[in-house]
Amino acid sequence: MGRVRTAPAVPRRPGRLPVVGDYFAFRRDRLGFWTDVGRLGPVVEVRFGTQAFWVVTSPEVAEHVLLGAARDYPRDRRLMALNRGPGPELMFNTDRWEEWRWRRRLLTPAFHRHTVTRFAETMVAHAVRAADEWAEAGTIELQGRMRTLTMRAILETMFSVTRDDEVARLQESFEVSSQVVSGRAAAPVPVPWWLPSPANLRLRRLTRYRWGVLAGIVEERIASGRVRGDLLDLLLARHLTEEERRFGPADLVGEMSGIVFAGHETTAETTTWLLYLLSTHPEVEARLRREMADVLGDRDPTPADVEEMPYLDRVVCETLRLYPPVFLTLREADVTHRVGDLVIPRGTRLVINIRGLHLDPAAWPDPEGFDPDRFAPGAGSRHRFQFIPFLAGPRKCLGDHFAMLEMRLVVPTLLRRLRLRYAGERPPRPRAGFTMSVDGGMPMWVEAVS
Ligand code: HEM
Repeated sequence: MGRVRTAPAVPRRPGRLPVVGDYFAFRRDRLGFWTDVGRLGPVVEVRFGTQAFWVVTSPEVAEHVLLGAARDYPRDRRLMALNRGPGPELMFNTDRWEEWRWRRRLLTPAFHRHTVTRFAETMVAHAVRAADEWAEAGTIELQGRMRTLTMRAILETMFSVTRDDEVARLQESFEVSSQVVSGRAAAPVPVPWWLPSPANLRLRRLTRYRWGVLAGIVEERIASGRVRGDLLDLLLARHLTEEERRFGPADLVGEMSGIVFAGHETTAETTTWLLYLLSTHPEVEARLRREMADVLGDRDPTPADVEEMPYLDRVVCETLRLYPPVFLTLREADVTHRVGDLVIPRGTRLVINIRGLHLDPAAWPDPEGFDPDRFAPGAGSRHRFQFIPFLAGPRKCLGDHFAMLEMRLVVPTLLRRLRLRYAGERPPRPRAGFTMSVDGGMPMWVEAVS
């Protein structure tokens, strides 16, 4: 095994510098870096200072890591420690299998495919409200507006509350966490949390605020004595029963915070890119509107309707292919494995290059082009790990059904009322943070559809 470590079986990215390694190339273009590395080979080593990673852009190796031997590849320990910061260990930030599993089991009942359909009316109602607000404004910054829509929807579906006055500051608190954590993850030198830097102080202030809002929601629910049958009830039941010692107040608020984060930025970003793509591809928009007219007539969509709208589904998938909000994920090998000719030594840190897989020219002709019909039945076969916006395997997204339902309801609800046109002077640029957002926002002209 020692021999394997000193003689890595994978190529390095060419152009690596002494000491800093590939860090400056990464700094120049934090998204393009990964797609470029992906095109160098199925598994390529990169280095940022002392941190080395194997970048996996092979669907076969991704399948082995995420599905075949998932238990031997926990989420990367250093990244998880960064995610936690001074906070508690939670479902989405733990690298320990057993800890993750019991937490995941606790939350899963709220996210089954059929369970989430009961949120449909709330999702549509928030889209209707947003459409009215946007039409009145005339010109909007879509990404921020979308985050407001999805944040309102997640608070109401998961915790049965509206917190209109707090939504903007909650959004800010998640954005700042996301920026700080993603900045630290790639830093060649570790930055301690206790350092009273302006970024750390702002993060601390906003995190305290967020936890205060969420703890207030819990207190209100307990005081009201009402049972709403939502995720909060599920978490509270665990908190107040025999598991109490294991699942304390910090776990409760922490898991709520994780769900609000995971459940609003991702769908907001995807829907923002989707509406931009429609505005620049009128033929796709026209076809989608025809499908809407055929299936919906003059009604808003229901979960049954969206099952009858295959083109809508393709448009969402193609957007997720081009702009997967979670564009990569990190795993760490706990056991040495062999996959074909490749030996993955224990201790190897792996970047699963989600966006690299989605833009791989060998699997996707004209990979940068927007063509929803790639997802039409019979449009060519490909390895199923070539498209993994929600990942796959045991640790895949818990909210995938929720997200797909929300996007497939929100888009037609908005389009029935509005026409949106991109109002920027230059094409929008994706920005790599914790998720992939739009750099500088997405200005849009909005007009009501008569
Ligand atoms: C377009 C929308 C979404 C995308 C593309 C997406 C993608 C992902 C991905 C790739 C992961 C795995 C992260 C990793 O292991 O590095 C993940 C995890 C997770 N997602 Fe999503 N997500 C979306 C929406 C949602 C929504 C709406 C919710 C909740 C309502 C949600 C809840 C979660 C949770 C709780 C996890 C952690 C699962 C675990 O560690 O077991 N996601 N998501």
